[in-house]
Amino acid sequence: MRHLDDIAGPGSPERALVERLDPSRLPKHVAIIMDGNGRWANARHLPRVEGHRAGIQAVRQTVEMIARLEIGVVTLYAFSTENWKRPRHEVVTLMGLLKHYLRSELATMLENNLRFVPIGRIEQLDPSVRRELERTVEATARCTGSTIQIALNYSGRQEITDVVRRAVIAARAGEIEPDVIDETWISQHLSTARVPDPDLLIRTSGEQRISNFLLWQLAYSEIYFTPVLWPDFSKIELLNALLDYQRRERRFGGLSDEGRSLFTAPGDLSAGS
Ligand code: FPP
Repeated sequence: MRHLDDIAGPGSPERALVERLDPSRLPKHVAIIMDGNGRWANARHLPRVEGHRAGIQAVRQTVEMIARLEIGVVTLYAFSTENWKRPRHEVVTLMGLLKHYLRSELATMLENNLRFVPIGRIEQLDPSVRRELERTVEATARCTGSTIQIALNYSGRQEITDVVRRAVIAARAGEIEPDVIDETWISQHLSTARVPDPDLLIRTSGEQRISNFLLWQLAYSEIYFTPVLWPDFSKIELLNALLDYQRRERRFGGLSDEGRSLFTAPGDLSAGS
């Protein structure tokens, strides 16, 4: 985490919240399901695509705060494999917004030392989108600050299925023994192999679902749901989510220190949550 004045200037609305954060207990990876763009637009009698356009501003605000807090990774769910079912005009606009975002944000990414990594079935996207993605990946490849992962044409089940298929092919070819395939092997063959699992998942718009996002990686993540629609998600909203996360006690299936001293005896087999 940078110096306080670099994160939120004195007197800024974010300052009081940043002061309450414990820099030693920030998540290393925050994943976000950006939901509610359509409802934001409907409420204003605007076309749905205007909600997506407004959502770009929230992406900028979020990435800026992630970089300032020096959080290692943020993964944004921008387009799922199910999103192809939307009207063609909406899909084309989303892809156009993505290209525009990549072009207009490249300089800011480089200034802030941000590495850009798309995840998902990128090879199925339009060549013009792929070109822009590749350009951004190459340009930011040597950046060592926060990693910005954008999930595009992404499906958690498909990602796990791809790893299973790869494992079977490698085992059949005699390249690996079946008992090499354990949780670590699977994690190392997912698209997120180079980053830690998310500590915190945020979903906006009041929906309380995972929607096929990072199914394997979210196994022990804390989940924060907010009714705020994505275009209204601000730095303040992100800071509130981080403060809420810091109030949680993460047990990873074990017991808290307090619980352990009260209940655990040698050989105790009780399971936590
Ligand atoms: C969900 O809102 C949002 C999306 C499907 C796309 C999110 C995309 C952006 C914020 C813009 C492009 C992203 C980047 C990273 C440049 P919804 O349409 O499902 O909203 P609704 O549930 O209210 O209909």
